[in-house]
Amino acid sequence: MNIKSRYGNWALITGASSGIGKEFAHRFAEMNINLILIARREELLKSIKTDLEERFKVEIIIIPLNLTDHDFLKIITKRIEGKKVNILINNAGIGALGDFFKNDITQYEEIIKLNCIAPIVLIKHFADEMIKEGKGALIFVGSVVGILPSPRMSIYSASKAFLNTFGESLWNELSDSGIDVITIMPGSTDTEFQRLSKGKTLNIRRAKDVVNTTLKSLGKKPAAIDGLLNKLFFTGSRFFPRKLILKLSKNISDKINN
Ligand SMILES: NC(=O)c1ccc[n+]([C@@H]2O[C@H](COP(=O)([O-])OP(=O)(O)OC[C@H]3O[C@@H](n4cnc5c(N)ncnc54)[C@H](OP(=O)(O)O)[C@@H]3O)[C@@H](O)[C@H]2O)c1
Repeated sequence: MNIKSRYGNWALITGASSGIGKEFAHRFAEMNINLILIARREELLKSIKTDLEERFKVEIIIIPLNLTDHDFLKIITKRIEGKKVNILINNAGIGALGDFFKNDITQYEEIIKLNCIAPIVLIKHFADEMIKEGKGALIFVGSVVGILPSPRMSIYSASKAFLNTFGESLWNELSDSGIDVITIMPGSTDTEFQRLSKGKTLNIRRAKDVVNTTLKSLGKKPAAIDGLLNKLFFTGSRFFPRKLILKLSKNISDKINN
């Protein structure tokens, strides 16, 4: 599929300064799609902009901001000066490890604001225009831990369950609108985010793999799990007793936490 001719030539990517978001930026720039890149670390965004503009002759707007600030949408709309966003990638996300009662409440509030509220605000604003035009793409970066409750990652896991469900519901609501919606559910992927688990994870995938799976599935299905082993485990988990699966999930998370 030719993504640019199907959806248009501007993509907005949240969490574009590293990991999966940065990989999306590379892939879209390669396809000559202009980019609006959002994250907090301005220096990283600047160097991605310089690199991609030089190599692919695309236009890139960087917007360094915190997506948990209440006025973030105002800042974005002001900076993009009426440009239409044709592809919206809700990728920025954070998590917290450890027992629910040991972490600070403000940490949980930040997770919910970034992982759940920011995508709602962005979609409500940018999908309106897509619906009027009858074309566009919405990409949700959910997670396999949204399929299976994850003890000692409970709020992160719940936030991703929210995102997975939100994305799949929108796929259905928008199925006759000309807008394609995909929820990608990565498993452990080699990014800065993995520092959380101090490298103690199995079956590590690359950001590149996640982006490949997303682009292969966009326009074809509502959701995709990245990686064969992840697919087998997380799809298969539905057929086993919940108690057993939660025990297994707890064992895995104990390994990551300790
Ligand atoms: N890596 C995995 O194993 C894995 C597995 C499943 C799902 N995921 C999901 O994949 C997505 C991308 O994560 P990643 O693995 O690529 O990790 P990452 O390299 O840590 O990327 C996270 C991105 O989010 C941005 N970000 C964090 N807090 C922000 C805030 N308050 N405002 C604006 N931007 C913010 C970060 O940029 P700044 O720090 O510059 O703001 C960074 O660009 C996340 O939603 C994560 O939940 C990751």
